[in-house]
Amino acid sequence: MKITIVGAGYVGLVSGACFAEFGFDVTCVDKDTSKIDDLNQGKIPIYEPGLDSLVNQGIKAKRLTFTNNLKTAIKISDVVMIAVGTPTRRGDGHADLTYVYEAAKEIAESLDGYTVIVSKSTVPVGTSRKVAEIIKSTRPDLIEGTSFDVASNPEFLREGSAINDFMRPDRIVIGTNGDKAHKVLQKLYRPLYLIETPIVSTTPETAELIKYAANGFLAMKISFINQMADLCEKTGADVQILAKGIGLDKRIGGKFLHAGPGYGGSCFPKDTLALSQIAQQYKTRCSLIDEVIQYNDQRKLDMAKRIIQAVKNAGVQKKVAILGLTFKPNTDDLREAPSITIIPEILKNDIAVSIYDPLYYFGSERLKHATDYESELKKATFTKSAYDAVTDAGCVVILTEWNEFRALDIEKIYKLMDTSATPLFMDFRNIYRPEDMEAFKYYAIGKKQL
Ligand code: UGA
Repeated sequence: MKITIVGAGYVGLVSGACFAEFGFDVTCVDKDTSKIDDLNQGKIPIYEPGLDSLVNQGIKAKRLTFTNNLKTAIKISDVVMIAVGTPTRRGDGHADLTYVYEAAKEIAESLDGYTVIVSKSTVPVGTSRKVAEIIKSTRPDLIEGTSFDVASNPEFLREGSAINDFMRPDRIVIGTNGDKAHKVLQKLYRPLYLIETPIVSTTPETAELIKYAANGFLAMKISFINQMADLCEKTGADVQILAKGIGLDKRIGGKFLHAGPGYGGSCFPKDTLALSQIAQQYKTRCSLIDEVIQYNDQRKLDMAKRIIQAVKNAGVQKKVAILGLTFKPNTDDLREAPSITIIPEILKNDIAVSIYDPLYYFGSERLKHATDYESELKKATFTKSAYDAVTDAGCVVILTEWNEFRALDIEKIYKLMDTSATPLFMDFRNIYRPEDMEAFKYYAIGKKQL
């Protein structure tokens, strides 16, 4: 079976490399010629553990190719996957489907023989139907159900563990309008049937909504535990034990109950906004999600206030060391990261900021290319290590739980910091135990403040 994936971004690349690993012939198409040149040489444009070697294995086995030539790839494909971006449309929060519709038109122009067009991008309800309409209006000679079908097969990959999530998913969702397309997709996921992955077979509309509902629910779960963390701080309770206490109830489940500085990334913020827009469009109530969106935005600002207030009250050196810039560990993604809200707020208050992140540090190539965030970060100082960052600082803040921050030499940190007043250690990911941090004024999330 031959697969073409349109869009060599995050989902496209990971899916392409994994399908090639399953043994299919995969062509990834992208309009960005320099990206395709790099990929053909095995250079990966994103940071994702394990993706490098999987892509290179696929290239070597001649099962994975990269091209700008959509036409040739489509003609010989049994399955064409649309994996282009669906960013938030400026102004109204809707998902911008421009790239999806452009892809649909271009795919239609080259279709040859029965092909299933699969939407992998996160798209609002009804997009698969719209894609089918575009195909029919571009090529009136094609008959839906005979020459082509459109299916929805959303991805649930997490950045940083995308390959494992693809190879061992909790479930696969297949949304089709008939048996013919369903059989093709079943064939595609046969390697996962063998490890007994649950399959949810449904209509494209339900599949499309499942993706938004899943991200909306997870964002809500995180916001819930963050609100409980606030309550724990006021009442002297401990949010980590609370999370365990509720998470052991199988109806609740223990995952995604880590309190922190608010969720970030390219998915939860974008998809909660889009979900809210879909509900408004259909005039139904989705106020839980609206509250999650507002609360999460406010939480990031509240975290900044918490740092500023603590620095001012403690009378420590007005320099804050930020450990971790990315929205979560094992990714180089800075989109909607709490750091991008929090750092400018601190700077605005005439408090200096030094930063260390395992992927964004003084002299790193990535930092040179993080130009989108230039204005937010320009007054901060980037350093080469966590220890450089904390030197002479009055306050350390852990914003991302990278592994290398889990076993810092705490004594060394203390000695390097300014100790003219008791230095502050603000652990926004709860990776340390309060009893080990007695030298500092230690702040955790959702625990009694010492
Ligand atoms: C998320 C979903 O988890 C994936 O299932 C989905 O496929 C993906 O979006 C997508 O739509 O493409 P991702 O954004 O990569 O994946 O990262 P997550 O691991 O979900 O983390 C998102 C944010 O929530 C991070 O800022 C993280 O720190 C935060 N988080 C997560 C918490 O604050 N607490 C938790 O318990 C879990």
